[in-house]
Amino acid sequence: MASQSTATESTPGASPWRPLWPADNTRNDAGTEPIIQSNISLASLFDLSSRRTTAIPNGALQNDSSTISVTWQDLWVSAVDNKRKRKSIICGLNGFAQPGRVLAIMGPSGCGKSTLLDALAGRLASNVKQTGKILINGLEQKLAFGTSAYVTQDDVLITTLTVKEAVCYSAQLQLPDTMSWSEKKERALDTIREMGLEGVMDTRIGGWSSKGISGGQKRRVSICTEILTRPKLLFLDEPTSGLDSAAAYHVMSRIISLAKREGMTVVGAIHQPSSEVFHLFHGLCLLAYGKTVFFGQPNEAILFFASNGFVCPHMSNPSDYFLRIINKDFDKDEGEQHQQHKYDIEAQPTTNTTQAIEILTTSFELSGYSIRVSENIEKLRFMGGVSVKKFDQPSFLNQCFVLTKRSFVNNLTCPEIWATTGCASLYTLLLE
Ligand SMILES: Nc1ncnc2c1ncn2[C@@H]1O[C@H](COP(=O)(O)OP(=O)(O)OP(=O)(O)O)[C@@H](O)[C@H]1O
Ligand SMILES: [Mg+2]
Repeated sequence: MASQSTATESTPGASPWRPLWPADNTRNDAGTEPIIQSNISLASLFDLSSRRTTAIPNGALQNDSSTISVTWQDLWVSAVDNKRKRKSIICGLNGFAQPGRVLAIMGPSGCGKSTLLDALAGRLASNVKQTGKILINGLEQKLAFGTSAYVTQDDVLITTLTVKEAVCYSAQLQLPDTMSWSEKKERALDTIREMGLEGVMDTRIGGWSSKGISGGQKRRVSICTEILTRPKLLFLDEPTSGLDSAAAYHVMSRIISLAKREGMTVVGAIHQPSSEVFHLFHGLCLLAYGKTVFFGQPNEAILFFASNGFVCPHMSNPSDYFLRIINKDFDKDEGEQHQQHKYDIEAQPTTNTTQAIEILTTSFELSGYSIRVSENIEKLRFMGGVSVKKFDQPSFLNQCFVLTKRSFVNNLTCPEIWATTGCASLYTLLLE
Protein backbone atom coordinates (compact mmCIF):
# COMPACT_ATOMS: atom_id res chain seq x y z
CA MET A 1 0.00 0.00 0.00
CA ALA A 2 1.42 3.33 -0.96
CA SER A 3 1.96 5.60 1.94
CA GLN A 4 -0.83 8.13 2.13
CA SER A 5 -0.32 11.79 2.68
CA THR A 6 -1.73 13.65 5.66
CA ALA A 7 -5.05 15.50 5.57
CA THR A 8 -3.15 18.76 5.38
CA GLU A 9 -1.08 17.67 2.44
CA SER A 10 -3.79 15.93 0.46
CA THR A 11 -6.69 18.33 0.76
CA PRO A 12 -6.22 21.72 -0.84
CA GLY A 13 -7.56 24.44 1.40
CA ALA A 14 -7.83 22.04 4.33
CA SER A 15 -7.02 23.13 7.86
CA PRO A 16 -3.42 23.99 8.67
CA TRP A 17 -3.47 21.23 11.28
CA ARG A 18 -0.29 19.20 11.48
CA PRO A 19 -0.61 15.80 13.12
CA LEU A 20 1.48 14.77 16.10
CA TRP A 21 1.50 11.20 14.81
CA PRO A 22 2.40 10.12 11.28
CA ALA A 23 -0.45 9.58 8.80
CA ASP A 24 0.20 5.91 8.35
CA ASN A 25 2.09 3.34 10.28
CA THR A 26 5.07 2.22 8.27
CA ARG A 27 4.21 -0.67 6.00
CA ASN A 28 6.17 -3.02 3.82
CA ASP A 29 5.89 -3.10 0.07
CA ALA A 30 3.17 -5.72 0.10
CA GLY A 31 1.18 -3.41 2.32
CA THR A 32 0.10 -6.13 4.68
CA GLU A 33 2.50 -6.45 7.57
CA PRO A 34 3.62 -3.41 9.47
CA ILE A 35 7.30 -2.80 9.96
CA ILE A 36 8.27 -1.71 13.43
CA GLN A 37 9.94 1.66 13.03
CA SER A 38 13.63 1.05 13.30
CA ASN A 39 14.36 4.56 14.52
CA ILE A 40 12.47 4.00 17.79
CA SER A 41 15.08 3.45 20.42
CA LEU A 42 13.77 1.65 23.46
CA ALA A 43 16.46 3.23 25.58
CA SER A 44 15.38 6.73 24.67
CA LEU A 45 11.72 5.95 25.31
CA PHE A 46 12.45 4.77 28.81
CA ASP A 47 15.08 7.36 29.59
CA LEU A 48 13.31 10.12 31.51
CA SER A 49 16.14 12.56 30.93
CA SER A 50 15.92 12.32 27.16
CA ARG A 51 12.25 13.46 27.15
CA ARG A 52 11.98 12.28 23.59
CA THR A 53 8.98 13.41 21.60
CA THR A 54 7.78 12.76 18.08
CA ALA A 55 5.71 15.93 18.05
CA ILE A 56 6.67 18.61 15.60
CA PRO A 57 8.14 21.86 16.96
CA ASN A 58 5.99 24.40 18.77
CA GLY A 59 4.51 27.04 16.54
CA ALA A 60 4.00 24.71 13.59
CA LEU A 61 0.70 23.60 15.09
CA GLN A 62 -2.40 25.74 14.93
CA ASN A 63 -5.93 25.18 16.06
CA ASP A 64 -8.66 26.31 13.75
CA SER A 65 -12.40 26.47 14.26
CA SER A 66 -13.19 23.87 11.60
CA THR A 67 -11.18 21.05 13.22
CA ILE A 68 -11.26 19.66 16.73
CA SER A 69 -8.53 18.46 19.02
CA VAL A 70 -9.40 16.90 22.36
CA THR A 71 -7.11 16.54 25.34
CA TRP A 72 -7.80 14.98 28.72
CA GLN A 73 -5.67 15.24 31.79
CA ASP A 74 -5.90 13.45 35.11
CA LEU A 75 -9.39 12.25 34.21
CA TRP A 76 -11.19 10.32 36.93
CA VAL A 77 -14.72 8.95 36.71
CA SER A 78 -16.44 7.21 39.60
CA ALA A 79 -19.93 5.88 40.28
CA VAL A 80 -21.83 4.74 43.33
CA ASP A 81 -22.51 1.00 43.26
CA ASN A 82 -25.46 -0.95 44.71
CA LYS A 83 -23.82 -1.04 48.16
CA ARG A 84 -23.63 2.78 48.08
CA LYS A 85 -19.85 2.63 47.80
CA ARG A 86 -18.10 4.95 45.34
CA LYS A 87 -16.07 2.99 42.82
CA SER A 88 -13.53 4.45 40.37
CA ILE A 89 -14.24 3.46 36.79
CA ILE A 90 -11.39 5.37 35.18
CA CYS A 91 -8.37 6.48 37.16
CA GLY A 92 -6.31 9.53 36.22
CA LEU A 93 -6.17 9.06 32.45
CA ASN A 94 -4.20 11.39 30.17
CA GLY A 95 -4.51 11.47 26.42
CA PHE A 96 -5.28 13.37 23.28
CA ALA A 97 -7.03 12.98 19.94
CA GLN A 98 -6.26 15.07 16.89
CA PRO A 99 -7.82 15.91 13.49
CA GLY A 100 -7.42 13.50 10.60
CA ARG A 101 -6.42 10.71 13.01
CA VAL A 102 -8.15 7.69 14.52
CA LEU A 103 -7.50 6.85 18.15
CA ALA A 104 -8.49 3.33 19.21
CA ILE A 105 -9.38 2.67 22.83
CA MET A 106 -8.87 -0.97 23.66
CA GLY A 107 -9.02 -3.11 26.76
CA PRO A 108 -10.90 -5.96 28.40
CA SER A 109 -14.66 -5.78 28.78
CA GLY A 110 -15.61 -3.47 31.65
CA CYS A 111 -12.27 -1.62 31.68
CA GLY A 112 -13.95 1.75 31.06
CA LYS A 113 -13.81 2.23 27.28
CA SER A 114 -17.42 3.40 26.90
CA THR A 115 -17.09 5.49 30.06
CA LEU A 116 -14.05 7.29 28.62
CA LEU A 117 -15.93 7.94 25.36
CA ASP A 118 -18.96 9.22 27.32
CA ALA A 119 -16.76 11.51 29.41
CA LEU A 120 -15.08 12.98 26.31
CA ALA A 121 -18.43 13.42 24.58
CA GLY A 122 -19.93 15.03 27.72
CA ARG A 123 -22.66 12.44 28.08
CA LEU A 124 -21.92 10.66 31.34
CA ALA A 125 -24.87 9.33 33.35
CA SER A 126 -26.17 11.50 36.17
CA ASN A 127 -25.02 9.08 38.92
CA VAL A 128 -21.43 9.40 37.77
CA LYS A 129 -18.86 11.89 39.05
CA GLN A 130 -16.06 13.20 36.85
CA THR A 131 -12.93 15.17 37.75
CA GLY A 132 -10.00 16.28 35.63
CA LYS A 133 -9.61 18.48 32.61
CA ILE A 134 -11.10 17.89 29.16
CA LEU A 135 -10.19 20.57 26.63
CA ILE A 136 -11.63 21.04 23.15
CA ASN A 137 -9.19 23.00 20.96
CA GLY A 138 -7.40 24.11 24.11
CA LEU A 139 -10.54 25.48 25.76
CA GLU A 140 -13.07 24.20 28.26
CA GLN A 141 -16.06 24.41 25.95
CA LYS A 142 -19.23 22.50 25.12
CA LEU A 143 -19.41 20.84 21.72
CA ALA A 144 -21.63 22.97 19.48
CA PHE A 145 -24.54 21.45 17.53
CA GLY A 146 -23.48 19.15 14.72
CA THR A 147 -19.76 19.28 15.50
CA SER A 148 -19.66 15.83 17.05
CA ALA A 149 -21.45 12.54 16.56
CA TYR A 150 -21.62 9.41 18.68
CA VAL A 151 -22.28 5.89 17.44
CA THR A 152 -23.47 4.10 20.58
CA GLN A 153 -22.64 0.52 21.48
CA ASP A 154 -26.27 -0.55 20.91
CA ASP A 155 -28.05 0.18 17.65
CA VAL A 156 -31.10 2.42 17.97
CA LEU A 157 -32.88 2.16 14.63
CA ILE A 158 -36.49 2.20 13.44
CA THR A 159 -37.02 -1.43 12.51
CA THR A 160 -39.79 -0.91 9.96
CA LEU A 161 -37.78 1.38 7.67
CA THR A 162 -35.54 0.16 4.89
CA VAL A 163 -31.83 1.00 5.03
CA LYS A 164 -32.28 3.68 2.36
CA GLU A 165 -35.29 5.24 4.14
CA ALA A 166 -33.49 5.29 7.50
CA VAL A 167 -30.39 7.00 6.11
CA CYS A 168 -32.35 9.41 3.87
CA TYR A 169 -34.64 10.52 6.73
CA SER A 170 -31.57 11.00 8.87
CA ALA A 171 -30.00 13.14 6.12
CA GLN A 172 -33.14 15.28 5.92
CA LEU A 173 -33.21 15.69 9.70
CA GLN A 174 -29.55 16.60 10.13
CA LEU A 175 -28.24 18.29 7.00
CA PRO A 176 -28.76 22.06 6.70
CA ASP A 177 -31.46 23.73 4.58
CA THR A 178 -28.70 25.21 2.38
CA MET A 179 -28.40 21.76 0.80
CA SER A 180 -31.07 20.80 -1.73
CA TRP A 181 -33.06 17.59 -1.28
CA SER A 182 -31.18 15.95 -4.16
CA GLU A 183 -27.83 16.87 -2.57
CA LYS A 184 -29.00 15.38 0.74
CA LYS A 185 -30.15 12.21 -1.03
CA GLU A 186 -26.83 11.99 -2.89
CA ARG A 187 -24.94 12.31 0.43
CA ALA A 188 -27.12 9.57 1.95
CA LEU A 189 -26.57 7.22 -0.98
CA ASP A 190 -22.81 7.92 -1.04
CA THR A 191 -22.60 7.11 2.66
CA ILE A 192 -24.58 3.88 2.18
CA ARG A 193 -22.16 2.88 -0.58
CA GLU A 194 -19.18 3.85 1.56
CA MET A 195 -20.34 1.45 4.27
CA GLY A 196 -20.87 -1.37 1.76
CA LEU A 197 -24.65 -1.47 2.20
CA GLU A 198 -25.69 -0.96 -1.41
CA GLY A 199 -26.89 -4.57 -1.68
CA VAL A 200 -29.36 -4.24 1.22
CA MET A 201 -30.46 -0.68 0.52
CA ASP A 202 -34.11 -1.71 0.06
CA THR A 203 -34.21 -4.31 2.83
CA ARG A 204 -36.03 -3.53 6.07
CA ILE A 205 -33.88 -3.08 9.14
CA GLY A 206 -36.07 -5.53 11.05
CA GLY A 207 -36.38 -6.35 14.72
CA TRP A 208 -37.61 -9.06 17.08
CA SER A 209 -40.83 -9.72 15.15
CA SER A 210 -39.52 -9.66 11.60
CA LYS A 211 -36.06 -10.57 10.43
CA GLY A 212 -34.33 -7.87 8.45
CA ILE A 213 -30.69 -7.05 7.89
CA SER A 214 -27.96 -8.74 9.94
CA GLY A 215 -26.44 -7.39 13.17
CA GLY A 216 -23.25 -6.30 11.40
CA GLN A 217 -25.30 -4.48 8.75
CA LYS A 218 -27.29 -2.70 11.48
CA ARG A 219 -23.99 -1.55 12.98
CA ARG A 220 -23.05 -0.06 9.60
CA VAL A 221 -26.45 1.67 9.26
CA SER A 222 -25.85 3.27 12.68
CA ILE A 223 -22.45 4.50 11.49
CA CYS A 224 -24.02 5.83 8.26
CA THR A 225 -26.59 7.91 10.14
CA GLU A 226 -23.88 9.52 12.25
CA ILE A 227 -21.26 10.25 9.58
CA LEU A 228 -23.75 11.85 7.18
CA THR A 229 -23.00 15.33 8.49
CA ARG A 230 -19.22 14.71 8.33
CA PRO A 231 -18.87 15.69 12.02
CA LYS A 232 -15.52 17.13 13.06
CA LEU A 233 -15.41 14.83 16.07
CA LEU A 234 -16.67 11.27 15.85
CA PHE A 235 -17.05 8.85 18.75
CA LEU A 236 -17.52 5.21 17.84
CA ASP A 237 -18.39 2.64 20.47
CA GLU A 238 -17.58 -0.81 19.11
CA PRO A 239 -18.10 0.06 15.41
CA THR A 240 -16.93 -3.37 14.27
CA SER A 241 -18.82 -5.65 16.64
CA GLY A 242 -20.83 -8.21 14.68
CA LEU A 243 -18.68 -7.73 11.58
CA ASP A 244 -16.46 -10.41 10.09
CA SER A 245 -12.78 -9.50 9.82
CA ALA A 246 -13.01 -8.47 6.15
CA ALA A 247 -16.04 -6.22 6.76
CA ALA A 248 -14.38 -4.78 9.87
CA TYR A 249 -11.28 -3.99 7.83
CA HIS A 250 -13.29 -2.27 5.09
CA VAL A 251 -15.43 -0.28 7.53
CA MET A 252 -12.41 0.89 9.53
CA SER A 253 -10.34 1.74 6.47
CA ARG A 254 -13.25 3.81 5.10
CA ILE A 255 -13.63 5.63 8.39
CA ILE A 256 -9.90 6.31 8.36
CA SER A 257 -10.01 7.67 4.79
CA LEU A 258 -12.97 9.85 5.77
CA ALA A 259 -11.07 11.12 8.82
CA LYS A 260 -8.08 12.04 6.65
CA ARG A 261 -10.15 13.59 3.89
CA GLU A 262 -12.44 15.63 6.14
CA GLY A 263 -9.95 16.36 8.93
CA MET A 264 -12.19 14.45 11.33
CA THR A 265 -11.03 13.50 14.81
CA VAL A 266 -12.11 9.93 15.49
CA VAL A 267 -12.07 8.22 18.87
CA GLY A 268 -13.33 4.64 18.91
CA ALA A 269 -13.65 1.87 21.48
CA ILE A 270 -12.66 -1.30 19.67
CA HIS A 271 -13.00 -4.90 20.75
CA GLN A 272 -10.22 -7.20 19.62
CA PRO A 273 -9.47 -5.95 16.09
CA SER A 274 -7.75 -8.19 13.56
CA SER A 275 -4.04 -7.66 13.03
CA GLU A 276 -4.67 -5.66 9.87
CA VAL A 277 -7.24 -3.38 11.51
CA PHE A 278 -4.98 -2.92 14.55
CA HIS A 279 -2.21 -1.50 12.38
CA LEU A 280 -4.61 0.89 10.63
CA PHE A 281 -5.08 2.99 13.77
CA HIS A 282 -2.96 6.10 14.23
CA GLY A 283 -3.09 5.93 17.99
CA LEU A 284 -3.78 3.32 20.63
CA CYS A 285 -5.02 3.85 24.16
CA LEU A 286 -4.88 0.52 25.95
CA LEU A 287 -6.73 0.39 29.25
CA ALA A 288 -6.88 -2.18 32.03
CA TYR A 289 -9.46 -1.71 34.77
CA GLY A 290 -9.52 2.07 34.39
CA LYS A 291 -5.76 2.62 34.13
CA THR A 292 -3.54 3.30 31.13
CA VAL A 293 -1.42 0.36 30.06
CA PHE A 294 -0.21 2.12 26.93
CA PHE A 295 -0.86 5.28 24.91
CA GLY A 296 1.00 5.79 21.64
CA GLN A 297 1.28 4.30 18.19
CA PRO A 298 0.11 0.68 17.77
CA ASN A 299 3.51 -0.64 16.62
CA GLU A 300 5.19 0.99 19.62
CA ALA A 301 2.86 -0.99 21.91
CA ILE A 302 4.52 -4.21 20.72
CA LEU A 303 7.91 -2.79 21.70
CA PHE A 304 6.58 -1.54 25.02
CA PHE A 305 5.17 -4.94 25.97
CA ALA A 306 8.37 -6.66 24.81
CA SER A 307 10.51 -4.34 26.92
CA ASN A 308 8.51 -5.46 29.95
CA GLY A 309 8.99 -9.15 29.24
CA PHE A 310 5.78 -9.73 27.31
CA VAL A 311 6.97 -10.63 23.86
CA CYS A 312 4.17 -10.98 21.33
CA PRO A 313 4.68 -14.36 19.61
CA HIS A 314 5.62 -14.26 15.95
CA MET A 315 2.66 -14.34 13.54
CA SER A 316 0.11 -13.69 16.26
CA ASN A 317 -2.38 -10.85 16.50
CA PRO A 318 -0.94 -8.19 18.88
CA SER A 319 -4.36 -7.10 20.12
CA ASP A 320 -5.27 -10.71 21.03
CA TYR A 321 -1.98 -11.03 22.84
CA PHE A 322 -2.31 -7.73 24.76
CA LEU A 323 -5.84 -8.54 25.89
CA ARG A 324 -4.85 -11.99 27.09
CA ILE A 325 -2.07 -10.46 29.17
CA ILE A 326 -4.31 -7.85 30.82
CA ASN A 327 -7.67 -9.62 31.16
CA LYS A 328 -8.13 -10.97 34.69
CA ASP A 329 -11.87 -11.60 34.48
CA PHE A 330 -11.40 -15.33 34.10
CA ASP A 331 -8.60 -15.88 36.60
CA LYS A 332 -9.86 -18.62 38.87
CA ASP A 333 -6.98 -19.98 40.79
CA GLU A 334 -3.33 -19.16 40.75
CA GLY A 335 -2.26 -22.60 39.51
CA GLU A 336 -4.35 -22.26 36.42
CA GLN A 337 -3.01 -18.77 35.88
CA HIS A 338 0.58 -19.87 36.07
CA GLN A 339 -0.09 -22.56 33.54
CA GLN A 340 -1.60 -20.03 31.19
CA HIS A 341 1.17 -17.50 31.63
CA LYS A 342 3.94 -20.01 31.24
CA TYR A 343 2.89 -20.02 27.64
CA ASP A 344 2.26 -16.28 27.40
CA ILE A 345 5.06 -14.74 29.35
CA GLU A 346 8.30 -16.46 28.54
CA ALA A 347 10.44 -13.95 30.37
CA GLN A 348 8.31 -13.87 33.52
CA PRO A 349 6.82 -17.35 33.96
CA THR A 350 5.55 -16.75 37.48
CA THR A 351 3.71 -13.50 36.75
CA ASN A 352 -0.05 -13.58 37.19
CA THR A 353 -2.45 -11.20 35.44
CA THR A 354 -2.74 -8.74 38.34
CA GLN A 355 1.05 -8.50 38.55
CA ALA A 356 1.32 -8.17 34.77
CA ILE A 357 -1.10 -5.22 34.82
CA GLU A 358 0.82 -3.64 37.70
CA ILE A 359 4.15 -4.04 35.85
CA LEU A 360 2.75 -2.53 32.65
CA THR A 361 0.86 0.41 34.20
CA THR A 362 3.82 1.39 36.39
CA SER A 363 6.26 0.99 33.55
CA PHE A 364 4.09 3.14 31.29
CA GLU A 365 3.82 5.90 33.90
CA LEU A 366 7.62 6.07 34.13
CA SER A 367 8.29 5.72 30.42
CA GLY A 368 9.11 8.21 27.71
CA TYR A 369 5.77 7.33 26.10
CA SER A 370 3.92 8.84 29.05
CA ILE A 371 6.11 11.94 28.97
CA ARG A 372 5.44 12.30 25.28
CA VAL A 373 1.68 12.17 25.92
CA SER A 374 1.99 14.98 28.49
CA GLU A 375 4.14 17.05 26.14
CA ASN A 376 1.69 16.63 23.29
CA ILE A 377 -1.24 17.58 25.55
CA GLU A 378 0.63 20.75 26.54
CA LYS A 379 1.39 21.55 22.90
CA LEU A 380 -2.26 21.19 21.93
CA ARG A 381 -3.29 23.31 24.93
CA PHE A 382 -0.91 26.15 24.15
CA MET A 383 -1.66 26.30 20.45
CA GLY A 384 -4.26 28.92 21.31
CA GLY A 385 -7.86 28.35 22.30
CA VAL A 386 -10.28 28.35 19.41
CA SER A 387 -14.04 28.00 19.70
CA VAL A 388 -15.59 25.31 17.59
CA LYS A 389 -17.76 26.53 14.72
CA LYS A 390 -21.44 25.54 14.95
CA PHE A 391 -22.89 23.37 12.20
CA ASP A 392 -25.94 24.75 10.34
CA GLN A 393 -29.13 23.07 11.48
CA PRO A 394 -32.22 22.38 9.36
CA SER A 395 -35.20 24.59 10.23
CA PHE A 396 -37.69 23.54 12.92
CA LEU A 397 -40.50 23.35 10.36
CA ASN A 398 -38.45 21.10 8.10
CA GLN A 399 -37.62 18.79 11.00
CA CYS A 400 -41.30 18.62 12.04
CA PHE A 401 -42.31 17.74 8.49
CA VAL A 402 -39.68 14.96 8.16
CA LEU A 403 -40.50 13.51 11.60
CA THR A 404 -44.25 13.43 10.82
CA LYS A 405 -43.61 11.77 7.48
CA ARG A 406 -41.26 9.22 9.05
CA SER A 407 -43.75 8.43 11.78
CA PHE A 408 -46.53 7.99 9.19
CA VAL A 409 -44.41 5.57 7.12
CA ASN A 410 -43.46 3.69 10.29
CA ASN A 411 -47.10 3.31 11.37
CA LEU A 412 -48.15 2.26 7.89
CA THR A 413 -45.58 -0.52 7.64
CA CYS A 414 -45.58 -1.75 11.22
CA PRO A 415 -47.87 -4.79 11.76
CA GLU A 416 -47.53 -4.50 15.55
CA ILE A 417 -49.01 -0.98 15.49
CA TRP A 418 -51.95 -2.17 13.37
CA ALA A 419 -52.52 -5.12 15.70
CA THR A 420 -52.35 -2.94 18.83
CA THR A 421 -54.67 -0.30 17.35
CA GLY A 422 -57.08 -3.03 16.20
CA CYS A 423 -57.14 -4.69 19.66
CA ALA A 424 -57.62 -1.33 21.39
CA SER A 425 -60.56 -0.44 19.10
CA LEU A 426 -62.17 -3.87 19.61
CA TYR A 427 -61.77 -3.60 23.38
CA THR A 428 -63.38 -0.11 23.41
CA LEU A 429 -66.25 -1.41 21.23
CA LEU A 430 -66.88 -4.37 23.56
CA LEU A 431 -66.86 -2.11 26.62
CA GLU A 432 -69.48 0.11 25.06
N1 LIG B 1 -23.45 4.90 35.29
C1 LIG B 1 -22.81 3.88 35.89
N2 LIG B 1 -23.11 3.52 37.15
C2 LIG B 1 -22.46 2.51 37.78
N3 LIG B 1 -21.47 1.80 37.19
C3 LIG B 1 -21.13 2.10 35.94
C4 LIG B 1 -21.78 3.16 35.22
N4 LIG B 1 -21.22 3.25 33.99
C5 LIG B 1 -20.29 2.28 33.93
N5 LIG B 1 -20.22 1.61 35.09
C6 LIG B 1 -19.32 0.49 35.40
O1 LIG B 1 -18.04 0.82 34.97
C7 LIG B 1 -17.38 -0.30 34.39
C8 LIG B 1 -16.90 0.05 33.01
O2 LIG B 1 -18.01 0.17 32.14
P1 LIG B 1 -17.85 0.49 30.59
O3 LIG B 1 -19.21 0.40 29.98
O4 LIG B 1 -17.14 1.78 30.43
O5 LIG B 1 -16.92 -0.71 30.13
P2 LIG B 1 -16.41 -1.09 28.66
O6 LIG B 1 -14.93 -1.13 28.70
O7 LIG B 1 -17.05 -0.21 27.66
O8 LIG B 1 -16.96 -2.59 28.54
P3 LIG B 1 -17.49 -3.37 27.23
O9 LIG B 1 -16.28 -3.69 26.42
O10 LIG B 1 -18.12 -4.61 27.79
O11 LIG B 1 -18.47 -2.49 26.52
C9 LIG B 1 -18.38 -1.44 34.44
O12 LIG B 1 -18.08 -2.26 35.54
C10 LIG B 1 -19.71 -0.76 34.61
O13 LIG B 1 -20.59 -1.55 35.35
MG1 LIG C 1 -18.46 -0.50 26.19
